[in-house]
Formats: sequence, structure tokens, C-alpha cells
Amino acid sequence: MKAVPGCIDALDTIRPSQLSGRSVLITGGGSGFGRQLAIMCATAGADVVIGDLNTKGLEGTIDLCRGLSGSCQAPSETSDVTVESSLRQLFAFAQATFGRPADVVVANAGITEVGRLSEDVALKNELGRYPKEPNLLTMNVNFSGVLLTAQLAEEAWKSEPSTEHNRQLVLLASMGGHSGIPGAPLYSASKHGLVGLWVAHCARLRALPEPTFSCHAICPFFSFTGILGRAVFLALAGLSVVQPETVASTVLHIVRDTSLNDGLGSMYCLPDHKEPLEFSTDYVGPLNHSFYQEITETIRQRQKVYDDPEYIQCRDDEILTAIGTNRADVPFIALLVSPSVARMAMKMQLLKQ
Ligand SMILES: NC(=O)c1ccc[n+]([C@@H]2O[C@H](COP(=O)([O-])OP(=O)(O)OC[C@H]3O[C@@H](n4cnc5c(N)ncnc54)[C@H](O)[C@@H]3O)[C@@H](O)[C@H]2O)c1
Repeated sequence: MKAVPGCIDALDTIRPSQLSGRSVLITGGGSGFGRQLAIMCATAGADVVIGDLNTKGLEGTIDLCRGLSGSCQAPSETSDVTVESSLRQLFAFAQATFGRPADVVVANAGITEVGRLSEDVALKNELGRYPKEPNLLTMNVNFSGVLLTAQLAEEAWKSEPSTEHNRQLVLLASMGGHSGIPGAPLYSASKHGLVGLWVAHCARLRALPEPTFSCHAICPFFSFTGILGRAVFLALAGLSVVQPETVASTVLHIVRDTSLNDGLGSMYCLPDHKEPLEFSTDYVGPLNHSFYQEITETIRQRQKVYDDPEYIQCRDDEILTAIGTNRADVPFIALLVSPSVARMAMKMQLLKQ
């Protein structure tokens, strides 16, 4: 494991020709990380195609990319990563736009936990029997949708082989792919599945005489994007969260350097807003306990310094908007959650005075 210093780009430091000639397809490009990545790639001169379920989100991203040195386009229909025909249309659109398959495919679309798995166990199904069937939407979008995206990428790359060694598959996993998020069992399971998919892809690529693409996994801690509900905003107060720029910069780092780890791939853990930690493909082997120990210790150490004012990244205005409240009981509710939340809640009360 190694930290990757200098990996985080600010928009104004990206050179407009850095990625000229490269093409990138991003699922879930209408919001959050996908949008930030589209903007950064287009700023660096890449041609980008985005897909999403949300038409307004797609239009917003395209508007923000206008006038940049690269381009950003989307098909006229929305793209759903859980529907094969819909996702195929996105890949066909990208191929028609770029005149070849996309060099880089970022399987980014994802949703938060849907349903209440543990409570469903105590509920009866329509036939009056226990347990009620689990709601698998989170798995369908976050795992099956990514799997389908990865398969369509490989299919497109196989149909037009290239000798340029610049094809890259990027899976948007999560730190929830290494540990359990309380209250989000299916989300955590889906992201563990993506880390597993990355490990399996790397093992397969390593066995090939000449890998045809590299595979990367990105594992961010929480970040204030459209995916988080109000309660999570509050629960995160006082902790160092990841900025969407950090996630997008990590992907840019991958896209810029196609020879990373002998062209096989790498995994990046982003435990906070600082530089990502890079893991090579041989690091995460079967029963590699040291991986879990090391990452757990690193997160503990890095989050321990959250009292450093420079480290606190929760933006008061975002929290205030998110919980949209002037309720006087917020600090008391927060005290039940954790002292750091209480501290932030007190600060919010002061801000309002
Ligand atoms: N924000 C975080 O705290 C965080 C942390 C770790 C990992 N992630 C992961 O990052 C990825 C991007 O999430 P984000 O934080 O930018 O959230 P976001 O909600 O801002 O963006 C996700 C986008 O995916 C789209 N989407 C949802 N279902 C889709 C489907 N079936 N087909 C196509 N598009 C669909 C949404 O419309 C949305 O525009 C997700 O995979 C998420 O799990 C997020």
C-alpha cells in the first residue's frame, strides 16, 4: 500500500491537453462523482459520453462541460444500468460518437440502501409466510448493473481489438466494500461484491499472456453527493469526508497513466479528503489479513486527527441545508449519536444566532 501524493487535481491546475485523444464512458454521469469526473475529463481534453436515469442531471452535466477543451455528450434516451437493452444503447452511442469503443469505462452509477433487510425478516410475504422477500434493488443497480457495464465494455473492446494498451475499466466501489455500514447491509454487500469483482478480474488478467485492459477499483469514504440522505449528513458531522474532486482526480490519475501496475490495475481507498491510498493487484490475495489490518489502522489514524481545523471538511451550509431545520433539539438528538456530531450541532446553533 502507498499513498499517492500530488494526485488530487484542482480544476484550475488541469492542463487542457492532458487527456486529448482519450475517450471516456461514465454511467451515472448526471450527478455527484460522475458529473465531477465528466467535468474534469472534459477539462483535460477528453471526449466523454455519459448515461443516467436522470435527464435533468444529464443536461446539467453537459451544460457544465460546454466550452471546455474536450466534449461531453449523452444519448437522447436515459440509460438504466439494470436494463441490458438500455445500457447497450449507451455503449452504441459512445461507439458512434468516438468512432471506436470508449478507451475508459467508468461503472459509477449507484444508489443507497433500499428497503429494510433486517426488519423484513420479521415480516410476512404475500402468502402469509415468513420472511418477506428482500428488496434487491440496491444489489441490482450497484452490483448487477456494474457487472453488466463491465461485460459490455469487454464485449466492445473484443469486437475492435487495439494494440495501444489504453483500455481501462474503473469500478466505483466504496469503503463499504471493506467494512460493514450499519443499517446498509445490501449496500455493503454490493460494494464487497465489486471489490471481489476487481480481485477476480485482476487474477484473470494476470493469467493472460497479454491483458487487453486494466481493471481498477475506487473505494471512497462518505462524500456529500446526491446519494446521501439527511440523517447521514447529520451523522457525519465533524468527520473528514471525501470531496467529489478527490474521487474524480483519482480516476484522472488512472486515465493519465495506462502503465500503472504493469497495465493490470490497482485499487484506491479514499478514507478522507486527503490523498488516496493505492493497492496493487497482488496486495489483496486470499486471506490477506494484513490488508484489512493496515487499512483499518490507517483509517483510525487519519480520522483521529479530525479535531485539526484544517481536517474538518463538513461544510456548515451543506449540513444546514441538508437537515433544513432550526429545531432547538438538534444538539440533544446529536448527543445521542456521538460527541463529534454534538459539537457540530452546537456550532450550527451558534451559526443561527
Ligand atoms: N457519496 C458517497 O458517500 C459515496 C461513497 C462511496 C461510494 N459511492 C459510490 O459512488 C457512485 C456515485 O455515487 P454519487 O455519490 O455520485 O451519488 P449520486 O446520487 O450523486 O450519483 C449517482 C448517479 O447514478 C444515477 N443512477 C442511479 N441508478 C441508476 C441506474 N439504474 N442507471 C443509471 N444511472 C443510475 C443517479 O441518477 C445519479 O445521477 C455510486 O456507485 C456510489 O455507491 C458514493
